[in-house]
Amino acid sequence: MKRASCWYAPLALLLAAGGAAAQKPEPGKAAPSAELARRLEATLGQMTQDEKLDFIGGTRGFYIRAIPRLGVPELKMSDGPMGVRNYGQVTAFPAGIALTATWDTALVNRVGVMMGQDARARGVHFILGPGMNIHRAPMNGRNFEYLGEDPFLAGRIAVAVIRGIQSQGVIATAKHYLGNNQEWDRHGISSDMDERTLREIYLPAFEASVKDGHVGAIMDSYNLVNGVHMTQNDYLNTQLLRKEWGFTGIVMSDWDATYDAVAAANGGLDLEMPSARYMNAKNLAPAIQAGKVTQATIDEKVRRILRTALEFGFFDRPQLDPPVSLYNQQARQVALEEARAGMVLLRNGGLLPLDRAKLHSIAVIGPDAHPAVPGGGGSSRTTPFAPVSFLQGISNAVGPDVRVLYAPGVQQGAAQNDRNLGAVGAADALAQATDVAGRAEVVVLCVGFDTRTEREGADRTFALPPGQDELIKAVLAANRNVIVVLTAGGNVDMAGWVDRTPALLHAWYPGQEGGAALAQLLFGDVSPSGKLPISLERRWEDNPTHDSYYGPDGNKPADRRPPDANAVAHVAYSEGIFVGYRGFDRSGVKPLFPFGFGLSYTTFGYANLKVAPAAGPGAPVVVSFDVTNTGQRAAAEVAQLYVADGHARVPRPVKELKGFARVELKPGETRSLSIALDRRAFSYYDVKKKQWTADPGDFTILVGGSSDSTPLKGTVRVK
Ligand code: BGC
Repeated sequence: MKRASCWYAPLALLLAAGGAAAQKPEPGKAAPSAELARRLEATLGQMTQDEKLDFIGGTRGFYIRAIPRLGVPELKMSDGPMGVRNYGQVTAFPAGIALTATWDTALVNRVGVMMGQDARARGVHFILGPGMNIHRAPMNGRNFEYLGEDPFLAGRIAVAVIRGIQSQGVIATAKHYLGNNQEWDRHGISSDMDERTLREIYLPAFEASVKDGHVGAIMDSYNLVNGVHMTQNDYLNTQLLRKEWGFTGIVMSDWDATYDAVAAANGGLDLEMPSARYMNAKNLAPAIQAGKVTQATIDEKVRRILRTALEFGFFDRPQLDPPVSLYNQQARQVALEEARAGMVLLRNGGLLPLDRAKLHSIAVIGPDAHPAVPGGGGSSRTTPFAPVSFLQGISNAVGPDVRVLYAPGVQQGAAQNDRNLGAVGAADALAQATDVAGRAEVVVLCVGFDTRTEREGADRTFALPPGQDELIKAVLAANRNVIVVLTAGGNVDMAGWVDRTPALLHAWYPGQEGGAALAQLLFGDVSPSGKLPISLERRWEDNPTHDSYYGPDGNKPADRRPPDANAVAHVAYSEGIFVGYRGFDRSGVKPLFPFGFGLSYTTFGYANLKVAPAAGPGAPVVVSFDVTNTGQRAAAEVAQLYVADGHARVPRPVKELKGFARVELKPGETRSLSIALDRRAFSYYDVKKKQWTADPGDFTILVGGSSDSTPLKGTVRVK
């Protein structure tokens, strides 16, 4: 079994993870055994043409059909990526963006293991996740499912969760390949980008999923890339994914993302989901007859599906694993840890942590306070057994002597969401909330989005849903001790209130245990340790994609579409590689909160940076340094390593994340960490040479606790 490329991953993390050796199959990479190859060819050889053509189109929504006479089992799929969605109540894990905010690959791996167990308890062979499209702008309705703005971080998180899922004998599906960076008009837009931008920003998470995660399946997205539908994009599906990266697994379509039988058959699609609307016998049999599609092309698709199924053992054991319970108590605990580690404390004017012993009353206010909002809307939405809302979590955590007051705070319809009404009705919710805020010592104000206002299939607003800015301002005026808790997949427009807010915490979508996790952080049982996987802009205008997300006129692409129903609207990724902090660093505009930022209840010191140059060709540069907990509380720190190239022949970002390590430290404790950097960590994609290139010279190594706080600085010469 090939071990993960340790040059990409911090050594300290690999050691800490301790799970790498426990990984079970790494399918898609190991050469199939002679016996497996024999079974594969024997099965394929007995299939009729009709059976083959039926096999490459899904059935019953989420299945690949069985061929009982050949012992080929029916294969069952489920969304993804926040839990096993399709078959009743299940563990609802926090969203992908929260998973990423943990920067904890060992924990992420355990999340994957738990998802795999939940899948086995339901007989599921494929989880349709993780999603890993890069965050360009806060409006993308699916940002919450994805892994942030940085390709390196997204890749490490994707690999950890994929390994966890697949260690349980369940196929993970990396989606949505490629360029699904907005939900607006997702069937009709083409994400247009140059080769370097593709290679450096949008492909690396998929590349890591294939090369290091050995992911079993990849899902092609709805959108086009550079004018070609992804389900028929020969360059991305075949030349790059298969020939260059060596992917041997299954390329499936997103649900109804196939548009042409012959083009898809020849363009690298193996499996049309959810049904064979295009790649069916009616269309393909004559195409084969006419020489437009070869028999070998069809056989290869069938072979890939069969081989992956054989490699995962699906022919040899039932996928339903009855010893694994439908109700997964261990997964509950992991979901709690994940929610807690992913929440990011953004401001704290000394208000937190709250002291239970001194507290007499607390108000929990806002549309996201209750009921729980474990995730955003769309195909990722899971149904948990017993979600814990912020109101419930806080109430459970305080003693009977503490008075807990509650008000939803937003009038009916104002949040486009009637669940906010509760007992209040069209009853003046704002006045009630203000009154409640004035009666409590402390207010926890829970604002943000939910399954209706942030979801698949639509983009959302940068502004909070209607009524919420007014609510925040009114509550801030009524009480000096307000903690704003944000539920969202990314940033929101906070300009009107953030500077007056004593404490602010980003909870993302925290899964079923969000309320318990929040309470543990607020009361200081655990110190916050999450760090932002995205830059939070002060104004939307500051975002590097501002002029290219909907175009310079701000109109959505569909508005600019030519009056032909089939015409494609092109979204030019004109900011190129300068997405997120890469763009902020270039423009010099300060974000409100920078990438990698997150407060703790303690403080950390960094010292003793040592940079050891590569010992020889192919050897890594090894960076080591000490992190000390210089405060009074035990806490975790995420140390981040950025590489800066000041001498390249092409424009490069000021700095780029190339390593990280999360460490738990007691007060006064120091830990030495080392991070290995391979040549790719110093390289850009040279479009002329068509390869990753590091221009020889001195590179700067920056280490610290966020992208704008890197107290350690060193140099290394790369030959
Ligand atoms: C989504 C996919 C999902 C599929 C099946 C599509 O609408 O884009 O992410 O896996 O539906 O539910």
